[in-house]
Amino acid sequence: MVRYGNTRELCLGLEVVTAQGDIWNGLSGLRKDNTGYDLRHLFIGSEGTLGVITAATMRLYPMPAAQLTSFAALPSLEAAVALLGLAHRFLNAGLTGFEVMGQFALTLVVKHFPLQGVPFYQEAPYCVVLENSNHASLAHARVQFEQLLEAAIEQGCVLNAVVAESLAQAKALWNIRESIPLAQAREGLNIKHDISIAVSRIPEFVLTADALVEHAFPGARLVNYGHLGDGNLHYNVQAPHGTDAEAFLTVHEAAINTLVYDCVQQFGGSISAEHGIGSLKRDKLAHYKSPVALQMMRAIKTALDPHNVMNPGRVL
Ligand code: LAC
Ligand code: ZN
Repeated sequence: MVRYGNTRELCLGLEVVTAQGDIWNGLSGLRKDNTGYDLRHLFIGSEGTLGVITAATMRLYPMPAAQLTSFAALPSLEAAVALLGLAHRFLNAGLTGFEVMGQFALTLVVKHFPLQGVPFYQEAPYCVVLENSNHASLAHARVQFEQLLEAAIEQGCVLNAVVAESLAQAKALWNIRESIPLAQAREGLNIKHDISIAVSRIPEFVLTADALVEHAFPGARLVNYGHLGDGNLHYNVQAPHGTDAEAFLTVHEAAINTLVYDCVQQFGGSISAEHGIGSLKRDKLAHYKSPVALQMMRAIKTALDPHNVMNPGRVL
Protein backbone atom coordinates (compact mmCIF):
# COMPACT_ATOMS: atom_id res chain seq x y z
CA MET A 1 0.00 0.00 0.00
CA VAL A 2 2.95 2.25 0.64
CA ARG A 3 3.45 2.52 -3.13
CA TYR A 4 0.10 1.89 -4.80
CA GLY A 5 -2.18 3.42 -2.20
CA ASN A 6 -5.30 2.24 -0.42
CA THR A 7 -8.56 1.09 -2.02
CA ARG A 8 -9.64 4.70 -2.48
CA GLU A 9 -6.62 5.34 -4.68
CA LEU A 10 -6.94 2.07 -6.58
CA CYS A 11 -10.66 2.13 -7.33
CA LEU A 12 -11.72 4.20 -10.34
CA GLY A 13 -15.39 3.30 -10.43
CA LEU A 14 -18.23 1.35 -8.83
CA GLU A 15 -21.56 -0.24 -9.58
CA VAL A 16 -23.92 -0.02 -6.64
CA VAL A 17 -27.41 -1.32 -5.83
CA THR A 18 -29.11 1.37 -3.76
CA ALA A 19 -31.45 0.94 -0.83
CA GLN A 20 -34.34 1.67 -3.23
CA GLY A 21 -33.25 -1.21 -5.48
CA ASP A 22 -31.91 1.03 -8.26
CA ILE A 23 -28.61 0.28 -9.97
CA TRP A 24 -26.04 3.05 -10.20
CA ASN A 25 -23.52 2.34 -12.94
CA GLY A 26 -20.45 4.37 -12.07
CA LEU A 27 -17.95 2.03 -13.70
CA SER A 28 -16.65 4.43 -16.37
CA GLY A 29 -13.14 4.42 -14.91
CA LEU A 30 -12.49 8.02 -15.94
CA ARG A 31 -9.32 9.45 -14.44
CA LYS A 32 -10.86 12.90 -14.34
CA ASP A 33 -14.54 13.51 -13.65
CA ASN A 34 -15.45 16.70 -11.90
CA THR A 35 -19.23 16.54 -12.10
CA GLY A 36 -20.29 17.11 -8.53
CA TYR A 37 -20.13 14.84 -5.51
CA ASP A 38 -17.80 11.85 -5.78
CA LEU A 39 -20.23 9.04 -4.98
CA ARG A 40 -17.55 6.40 -5.40
CA HIS A 41 -15.72 7.70 -2.35
CA LEU A 42 -18.97 7.81 -0.43
CA PHE A 43 -19.48 4.07 -0.93
CA ILE A 44 -15.86 2.97 -0.40
CA GLY A 45 -15.46 2.34 3.31
CA SER A 46 -19.19 2.65 3.99
CA GLU A 47 -19.20 -1.02 4.99
CA GLY A 48 -22.44 -1.74 3.14
CA THR A 49 -24.44 0.80 5.14
CA LEU A 50 -25.38 2.93 2.10
CA GLY A 51 -25.81 0.32 -0.64
CA VAL A 52 -24.39 -2.91 -2.00
CA ILE A 53 -21.30 -2.68 -4.22
CA THR A 54 -21.74 -5.17 -7.07
CA ALA A 55 -18.80 -4.28 -9.36
CA ALA A 56 -15.69 -2.11 -9.43
CA THR A 57 -13.24 -0.70 -11.96
CA MET A 58 -9.72 -0.92 -10.61
CA ARG A 59 -6.56 0.95 -11.52
CA LEU A 60 -3.79 -1.40 -12.68
CA TYR A 61 -0.01 -1.00 -12.65
CA PRO A 62 2.61 -2.79 -14.73
CA MET A 63 4.33 -5.71 -13.05
CA PRO A 64 7.81 -4.74 -11.86
CA ALA A 65 10.76 -6.47 -13.58
CA ALA A 66 12.11 -7.55 -10.21
CA GLN A 67 11.24 -7.58 -6.53
CA LEU A 68 13.77 -7.75 -3.76
CA THR A 69 13.21 -8.06 -0.01
CA SER A 70 15.38 -6.94 2.85
CA PHE A 71 15.14 -7.42 6.63
CA ALA A 72 16.83 -4.87 8.87
CA ALA A 73 17.45 -4.52 12.61
CA LEU A 74 16.94 -1.04 14.06
CA PRO A 75 17.90 0.65 17.32
CA SER A 76 14.54 2.44 17.78
CA LEU A 77 11.25 3.44 16.23
CA GLU A 78 12.75 6.88 15.47
CA ALA A 79 15.32 5.00 13.41
CA ALA A 80 12.48 3.24 11.55
CA VAL A 81 10.96 6.61 10.61
CA ALA A 82 14.38 7.86 9.49
CA LEU A 83 14.89 4.67 7.45
CA LEU A 84 11.49 5.16 5.82
CA GLY A 85 12.59 8.64 4.70
CA LEU A 86 15.84 7.24 3.30
CA ALA A 87 13.98 4.39 1.57
CA HIS A 88 11.68 6.87 -0.17
CA ARG A 89 14.77 8.80 -1.31
CA PHE A 90 16.88 5.85 -2.47
CA LEU A 91 14.12 3.63 -3.90
CA ASN A 92 11.60 6.27 -5.00
CA ALA A 93 8.50 4.57 -6.34
CA GLY A 94 10.29 1.21 -5.97
CA LEU A 95 9.45 1.12 -2.27
CA THR A 96 6.46 -1.24 -2.17
CA GLY A 97 6.74 -2.58 1.36
CA PHE A 98 7.81 -1.16 4.71
CA GLU A 99 6.61 -3.18 7.69
CA VAL A 100 7.80 -2.62 11.22
CA MET A 101 7.90 -5.33 13.90
CA GLY A 102 8.54 -4.86 17.62
CA GLN A 103 10.86 -7.23 19.45
CA PHE A 104 8.10 -8.85 21.53
CA ALA A 105 6.04 -9.54 18.38
CA LEU A 106 9.05 -11.34 16.87
CA THR A 107 9.64 -13.24 20.10
CA LEU A 108 6.13 -14.67 19.73
CA VAL A 109 6.89 -15.78 16.16
CA VAL A 110 10.01 -17.61 17.35
CA LYS A 111 8.10 -19.17 20.25
CA HIS A 112 5.12 -20.43 18.25
CA PHE A 113 6.81 -21.12 14.89
CA PRO A 114 10.24 -22.35 15.99
CA LEU A 115 11.12 -23.53 12.48
CA GLN A 116 11.13 -19.95 11.19
CA GLY A 117 14.53 -18.35 11.33
CA VAL A 118 14.10 -14.76 12.56
CA PRO A 119 17.28 -12.74 12.10
CA PHE A 120 18.54 -10.09 14.54
CA TYR A 121 15.47 -9.94 16.76
CA GLN A 122 17.38 -10.52 19.98
CA GLU A 123 19.70 -7.60 19.37
CA ALA A 124 17.22 -4.94 18.30
CA PRO A 125 14.01 -3.43 19.69
CA TYR A 126 12.58 -3.15 16.16
CA CYS A 127 13.02 -4.87 12.81
CA VAL A 128 11.71 -3.80 9.41
CA VAL A 129 10.88 -5.74 6.23
CA LEU A 130 11.47 -3.65 3.11
CA GLU A 131 10.47 -4.49 -0.44
CA ASN A 132 11.95 -2.90 -3.54
CA SER A 133 10.05 -3.35 -6.81
CA ASN A 134 12.33 -2.39 -9.66
CA HIS A 135 11.37 -1.69 -13.26
CA ALA A 136 14.89 -2.28 -14.61
CA SER A 137 16.36 -5.49 -13.20
CA LEU A 138 17.14 -7.57 -10.13
CA ALA A 139 20.73 -6.38 -10.27
CA HIS A 140 19.60 -2.77 -10.17
CA ALA A 141 17.26 -3.49 -7.27
CA ARG A 142 20.19 -5.01 -5.37
CA VAL A 143 22.46 -2.02 -6.02
CA GLN A 144 19.71 0.33 -4.81
CA PHE A 145 19.24 -1.71 -1.62
CA GLU A 146 22.99 -1.77 -0.97
CA GLN A 147 23.21 2.00 -1.35
CA LEU A 148 20.20 2.51 0.91
CA LEU A 149 21.43 0.17 3.64
CA GLU A 150 24.96 1.57 3.50
CA ALA A 151 23.62 5.09 4.04
CA ALA A 152 21.27 3.87 6.78
CA ILE A 153 24.05 2.03 8.65
CA GLU A 154 26.28 5.09 8.33
CA GLN A 155 23.55 7.30 9.83
CA GLY A 156 22.98 4.81 12.63
CA CYS A 157 19.37 4.01 11.79
CA VAL A 158 20.16 0.41 10.79
CA LEU A 159 22.25 -1.91 12.97
CA ASN A 160 22.31 -4.91 10.68
CA ALA A 161 20.51 -6.09 7.55
CA VAL A 162 20.12 -8.98 5.13
CA VAL A 163 18.95 -8.87 1.53
CA ALA A 164 17.21 -12.00 0.23
CA GLU A 165 19.35 -14.06 -2.16
CA SER A 166 16.42 -15.95 -3.66
CA LEU A 167 12.66 -15.88 -4.00
CA ALA A 168 12.45 -18.55 -1.29
CA GLN A 169 14.42 -16.34 1.11
CA ALA A 170 12.25 -13.35 0.28
CA LYS A 171 9.14 -15.41 1.03
CA ALA A 172 10.65 -16.59 4.30
CA LEU A 173 11.35 -12.99 5.38
CA TRP A 174 7.79 -11.91 4.53
CA ASN A 175 6.49 -14.99 6.29
CA ILE A 176 7.98 -13.72 9.55
CA ARG A 177 5.92 -10.56 9.28
CA GLU A 178 2.78 -12.40 8.22
CA SER A 179 3.12 -14.87 11.11
CA ILE A 180 2.84 -12.22 13.81
CA PRO A 181 -0.99 -12.19 14.03
CA LEU A 182 -1.02 -16.02 14.04
CA ALA A 183 1.66 -16.22 16.73
CA GLN A 184 -0.23 -13.67 18.75
CA ALA A 185 -3.42 -15.71 18.53
CA ARG A 186 -1.56 -18.83 19.69
CA GLU A 187 -0.20 -16.91 22.65
CA GLY A 188 -3.77 -16.21 23.74
CA LEU A 189 -6.59 -13.70 23.54
CA ASN A 190 -5.48 -10.11 23.12
CA ILE A 191 -6.81 -6.62 22.66
CA LYS A 192 -6.35 -5.37 19.13
CA HIS A 193 -5.95 -1.81 17.90
CA ASP A 194 -5.71 -0.82 14.26
CA ILE A 195 -4.62 2.78 14.50
CA SER A 196 -3.02 5.43 12.34
CA ILE A 197 -0.96 8.44 13.35
CA ALA A 198 1.11 10.86 11.26
CA VAL A 199 4.29 8.84 10.58
CA SER A 200 6.58 11.44 12.14
CA ARG A 201 4.63 11.30 15.43
CA ILE A 202 4.56 7.52 15.77
CA PRO A 203 7.70 7.16 17.91
CA GLU A 204 6.40 9.74 20.41
CA PHE A 205 2.96 8.10 20.40
CA VAL A 206 4.38 4.65 21.14
CA LEU A 207 6.59 6.02 23.91
CA THR A 208 3.59 7.74 25.50
CA ALA A 209 1.12 4.86 25.04
CA ASP A 210 3.65 2.23 26.22
CA ALA A 211 4.27 4.21 29.41
CA LEU A 212 0.54 4.67 30.06
CA VAL A 213 -0.27 0.97 29.51
CA GLU A 214 2.69 -0.23 31.57
CA HIS A 215 1.79 2.12 34.41
CA ALA A 216 -1.93 1.24 34.48
CA PHE A 217 -1.59 -2.49 33.72
CA PRO A 218 1.77 -3.72 35.00
CA GLY A 219 3.05 -6.74 33.10
CA ALA A 220 0.75 -6.22 30.09
CA ARG A 221 2.68 -7.13 26.95
CA LEU A 222 2.63 -4.93 23.85
CA VAL A 223 2.57 -6.55 20.45
CA ASN A 224 3.44 -3.67 18.19
CA TYR A 225 3.81 -4.15 14.45
CA GLY A 226 2.38 -2.87 11.21
CA HIS A 227 2.42 -0.82 8.10
CA LEU A 228 4.71 2.00 9.17
CA GLY A 229 4.99 3.22 5.58
CA ASP A 230 1.29 4.14 5.86
CA GLY A 231 1.41 5.35 9.46
CA ASN A 232 -0.69 2.31 10.47
CA LEU A 233 0.19 0.31 13.58
CA HIS A 234 -1.35 -2.80 15.06
CA TYR A 235 -0.83 -1.74 18.63
CA ASN A 236 -2.10 -4.80 20.49
CA VAL A 237 -2.12 -5.58 24.17
CA GLN A 238 -1.58 -9.10 25.47
CA ALA A 239 -2.32 -10.22 29.04
CA PRO A 240 0.65 -10.44 31.44
CA HIS A 241 2.67 -13.62 31.12
CA GLY A 242 1.16 -16.59 32.93
CA THR A 243 -2.18 -14.91 33.62
CA ASP A 244 -5.66 -15.90 32.41
CA ALA A 245 -6.04 -13.95 29.17
CA GLU A 246 -9.82 -14.25 29.08
CA ALA A 247 -10.18 -12.92 32.60
CA PHE A 248 -7.74 -10.09 31.81
CA LEU A 249 -9.79 -9.08 28.78
CA THR A 250 -13.10 -9.28 30.62
CA VAL A 251 -11.86 -6.97 33.36
CA HIS A 252 -9.56 -4.59 31.46
CA GLU A 253 -10.47 -4.46 27.78
CA ALA A 254 -12.69 -1.37 28.02
CA ALA A 255 -10.16 0.56 30.10
CA ILE A 256 -7.25 -0.37 27.84
CA ASN A 257 -9.22 0.68 24.75
CA THR A 258 -10.05 4.02 26.33
CA LEU A 259 -6.44 4.58 27.31
CA VAL A 260 -5.08 3.74 23.85
CA TYR A 261 -7.78 5.59 21.88
CA ASP A 262 -7.54 8.70 24.07
CA CYS A 263 -3.83 8.71 23.33
CA VAL A 264 -4.48 8.22 19.59
CA GLN A 265 -6.88 11.18 19.69
CA GLN A 266 -4.33 13.31 21.51
CA PHE A 267 -1.90 12.60 18.65
CA GLY A 268 -4.49 13.47 16.00
CA GLY A 269 -4.79 9.86 14.80
CA SER A 270 -7.56 7.48 13.75
CA ILE A 271 -9.02 4.58 15.76
CA SER A 272 -9.46 2.51 12.59
CA ALA A 273 -6.85 2.66 9.85
CA GLU A 274 -7.79 -0.34 7.72
CA HIS A 275 -10.18 -2.78 9.35
CA GLY A 276 -13.19 -0.48 9.63
CA ILE A 277 -15.80 0.22 12.31
CA GLY A 278 -18.34 -2.60 11.98
CA SER A 279 -20.39 -3.11 15.12
CA LEU A 280 -17.39 -3.56 17.40
CA LYS A 281 -16.18 0.03 17.20
CA ARG A 282 -19.52 1.73 16.64
CA ASP A 283 -19.66 3.22 20.12
CA LYS A 284 -15.99 4.27 19.83
CA LEU A 285 -16.70 6.09 16.58
CA ALA A 286 -19.55 7.99 18.22
CA HIS A 287 -17.11 9.07 20.92
CA TYR A 288 -13.94 9.84 18.92
CA LYS A 289 -15.18 11.15 15.56
CA SER A 290 -15.86 14.86 15.23
CA PRO A 291 -19.54 15.61 16.02
CA VAL A 292 -19.78 17.67 12.84
CA ALA A 293 -18.51 14.75 10.75
CA LEU A 294 -20.88 12.36 12.54
CA GLN A 295 -23.83 14.65 11.86
CA MET A 296 -23.00 14.74 8.14
CA MET A 297 -22.55 10.97 8.08
CA ARG A 298 -25.94 10.46 9.74
CA ALA A 299 -27.58 12.88 7.30
CA ILE A 300 -26.13 10.95 4.35
CA LYS A 301 -27.24 7.63 5.82
CA THR A 302 -30.79 8.89 6.38
CA ALA A 303 -31.01 10.40 2.90
CA LEU A 304 -29.76 7.30 1.05
CA ASP A 305 -31.23 4.61 3.30
CA PRO A 306 -34.19 6.16 5.18
CA HIS A 307 -35.54 2.79 6.33
CA ASN A 308 -32.14 1.56 7.56
CA VAL A 309 -32.16 -1.64 5.53
CA MET A 310 -28.49 -1.51 4.53
CA ASN A 311 -26.28 -3.38 7.02
CA PRO A 312 -28.11 -2.00 10.07
CA GLY A 313 -26.18 -1.76 13.32
CA ARG A 314 -22.84 -1.11 11.61
CA VAL A 315 -20.70 2.06 11.63
CA LEU A 316 -23.32 4.57 12.85
C1 LAC B 1 -2.05 -7.42 9.49
C2 LAC B 1 -3.53 -7.47 9.69
C3 LAC B 1 -3.86 -7.80 11.09
O1 LAC B 1 -1.54 -6.38 9.15
O2 LAC B 1 -4.10 -6.25 9.33
O3 LAC B 1 -1.40 -8.46 9.67
ZN1 ZN C 1 -2.70 -4.71 8.91
